[in-house]
Parts: sequence; structure tokens; C-alpha cells
Amino acid sequence: LARGVSAPDLAGRHVVVSAGGTREPLDPVRYLGNRSSGKQGYALARTAAARGARVTLIEANTGITDPAGVDVVHVGTAVQLREAVLKAAADADAVVMAAAVADFRPAAYATGKIKKKDGEEPAPVALVRNPDILAEIAGERPRPGQVVVGFAAETDDVLANGRLKLARKGCDLLVVNEVGERKTFGAEENEAVVLAADGGETPVPYGPKEALADVVWDLVVPRLGPAGL
Ligand code: CTP
Ligand code: CA
Repeated sequence: LARGVSAPDLAGRHVVVSAGGTREPLDPVRYLGNRSSGKQGYALARTAAARGARVTLIEANTGITDPAGVDVVHVGTAVQLREAVLKAAADADAVVMAAAVADFRPAAYATGKIKKKDGEEPAPVALVRNPDILAEIAGERPRPGQVVVGFAAETDDVLANGRLKLARKGCDLLVVNEVGERKTFGAEENEAVVLAADGGETPVPYGPKEALADVVWDLVVPRLGPAGL
């Protein structure tokens, strides 16, 4: 095959990709959010479609135009993302959780705008845990032979933290990014190590998010169960 031309090795497969970052509302005008741009998730969706997959992209707050040939589901919060991912995962051959899911959400939603009062300190914001979507999908495997992939941004001992997280989540592959200087959120390029549950370790040099996406699919394909079950 010519360089840049992908083999249709995902033909006949349904893959689900989550992208972006969830926003957890406090009141009608405010939310708790994160800096995920969604670019890596969109790169995964585009490259999977180019390799022949039917792609469902669950998108949270990216503002990116829907890619051609991809089914896009727009969500806002972690709870909505979970519902959409679980629904799409029911018949998926692979699920890739590239979205940044808020670990916590405000315990209460104020239906009216929260107002400050003269001479009063603000009340603390109480938080509750959000469901862990990746661990849930990896534990349930709604479809036999389904491959489940997570992402993690780590500091300090990046690989050791990644190994622990891979085991804790129960997924097949974990794409580990080191958070640092040029590896800022929203960047066009990325550098990572893909850890596999079977002990594999695939370094991906600094480069376009499409290149990392193709490495992820290269690692997913040989792990897929039989097609068309
Ligand atoms: N994830 C998820 N649901 C959550 C939190 C995270 O599905 N409530 C997924 C993310 O989409 C990502 C992976 O889990 O694929 C790892 O996210 P990360 O935030 O690194 O993991 P956490 O378990 O939340 O660990 P930490 O305490 O380091 O944030
Ligand atoms: Ca987290």
C-alpha cells in the first residue's frame, strides 16, 4: 500500500469513540469543566472511518464540526456521556474512551443563578463522584470480544502510574500521555506510550494526533473478536 493509504482493516466493524470534556453544571450559567480539546478523539474517529469502520463519536463540548461519514452524538455531562457510550457500545467491536470525564459533579444543581450577598463569604461547592464509564464498559463487555481502550494523562512515574491505571480499569489498552511543557491541552501533536494488558508497551513519538490514532487502531485490530457476531 502507498504511504498514507490505510488498509480497510476495520471494514465491517463498529467502533465507538468518546471525545472532548464533560461539563458539570452548577447553575444555568456556570459549570465545572476541563481543558480537553477533543482533537485526539476526532483523529481517532476520522482514522477509523478511513480504515472502513462504522464510527459512533460521542462528543462533549468540543465545538468541532461533525466529521463526514461518522455518526455523532452530542452530550454535555458525564452522566449523559455514560448513557450515550453504553447505548452505542451494545454492538460495538471496540470502544475508545478519549474523552476527559469529570471525576466529580456538583452535588446539587441550582435552578436559578447563584447570587452573591453583600458581606457574605461564598458557600463551599459540595461534589459527588461521577460513574467510571471506562471501568464499567471494560467490566461488562456488552459484546463478546469487544476491545476497550482508555486514555490517561500522567505526571511523575508515568509508566508505573499507567500500569496501575490499566489494571484498575480492566481495559485492554491504555494510551498514556505525559503532561508537561509542550504537551499542552489543545495542541495539534501528541506523544504517548500505549500499554497493553498483555504486557505490551508501544512508544509513539511526538507527532500528529492522526499518527497516534493509527497506532491505536493498529493495536486494536489484532485483538478484535470475530466480526459480525
Ligand atoms: N474515565 C471514565 N469515567 C470517569 C473518569 C475517567 O470513563 N468517570 C476514563 C477516561 O475517559 C480515560 C480513563 O478513564 O479513558 C482514564 O481517565 P483518568 O482521569 O486518567 O482516570 P481516573 O480513574 O479518573 O484517575 P485520576 O484519579 O488519575 O483522574
Ligand atoms: Ca480523572
